[in-house]
Amino acid sequence: MGAAETVTVRHEPVMLRECIGALTPHEGGIYLDGTAGLGGHAEAMAENRGQVICLDRDKDALELCKARLKRFGERVTFLHGDYREMDVLLDGAGVGLLDGILLDLGVSSLQLDTPERGFSYRYDAPLDMRMDQAQARTAAEIVNEWPYRQLVRILYDYGEERYAHQLARGIVAARPLRTTAELADTIVESVPARGRREAQHPARRCFQAVRIAVNGELDALETGLPKALARLKPGGRLAVIAFHSLESRIIKRVFAEAARGCTCPPSFPSCVCGKTASVKSVGRWMPTREETEENPRSASAVLRVAERL
Ligand SMILES: C[S@@+](CC[C@H](N)C(=O)[O-])C[C@H]1O[C@@H](n2cnc3c(N)ncnc32)[C@H](O)[C@@H]1O
Repeated sequence: MGAAETVTVRHEPVMLRECIGALTPHEGGIYLDGTAGLGGHAEAMAENRGQVICLDRDKDALELCKARLKRFGERVTFLHGDYREMDVLLDGAGVGLLDGILLDLGVSSLQLDTPERGFSYRYDAPLDMRMDQAQARTAAEIVNEWPYRQLVRILYDYGEERYAHQLARGIVAARPLRTTAELADTIVESVPARGRREAQHPARRCFQAVRIAVNGELDALETGLPKALARLKPGGRLAVIAFHSLESRIIKRVFAEAARGCTCPPSFPSCVCGKTASVKSVGRWMPTREETEENPRSASAVLRVAERL
C-alpha cells in the first residue's frame, strides 16, 4: 500500500489547542512544523494565517500533507528531510529566523497503520521501521546484526522493557528474523509467563525500542533542539511534544541549559564564562482526560514550550 492508497488514514493531532495557544500563529508570522506528518498541527497553524514550512523525513507523509494543505497555496511550503538538519534545510530554502517551531515526536498513524512499513507487530511485514525510506539502516539490521549487549541496552533504555535480557537472548537465538511476525512470535516465546499476562502485547515495548534505534530518534532530538532554539526570533517559541520519558528528559535538560545564565563558580569575583540565558521556559502541559479518552495515543504526551529571549 503506497501513500496514495492510505489517504484515508487520520492522525489525530495531539494537544492541538495547547500547541496553537502556545505558538499563537498569526498573519505575517513564519512557522516550522519539523515533524509535519499528516499535517494536523500545520493545518491549524495555516488556518490561523501563519506562513508554514512543513518538514518531515517521511516522503509518503509529506505527500499526504501536501494534498491536505493544498488549499493554503503558497502560504505553506514543504521540505523533505530530518529536523536535526533544519539549519541547512532552512538556509537552503532561504528561510531566516522563525516565530515558532513545533516538534511532535514519535511515529504517525500513517507509519503504524501501513503494514509494509514494518512498524507494527499487528501486521506481518519485512522488518523495516524506517521513517525515511531512503535510509540504509532497517530494523532487520538491528535485530539480526547488533550484538546481544546492544540489544539489551535498547530494549531496556528505549523500550523500558523489564525482560530485556530474556528478549535479547531469544532474538539472538532465533536469528535470522525476517518479518515482524517472526520478531513478535520470538518475543512472545521469550517473555516469562507473567509478562504474557499483561494487558499490553508483549512485543509492544520491543517494537518501540527497535523503532527508536532504527531512526536515531534520541540523537535527532539532542542535535535538533539547540538548532531549533537558535532559529527563533526573540519572542519566538519552540513547542515540543514528547511521548517517552527519555525524550522528556532531553527536552528538559536542553531547555534548562539554554535558560541558564552565567555558569562561573560562585567564588569567582566576576563572570568569565560570558554565558547569558537565551530562552525562558513557558510551561509544560499534559493532555486533558477528554483528549486521552478520545485519543488514547495522547495518554503519554507531555508538551513543553520555551521562548527565545
Ligand atoms: C507524531 S507524527 C506527527 C503528526 C503531525 N503532528 C500531525 O498532526 O499529523 C511524527 C512525524 O515526525 C516525523 N519525524 C520523526 N522524526 C523526524 C525527524 N528527525 N525529522 C523529520 N521528521 C521526523 C515522522 O516521520 C512522523 O511523520
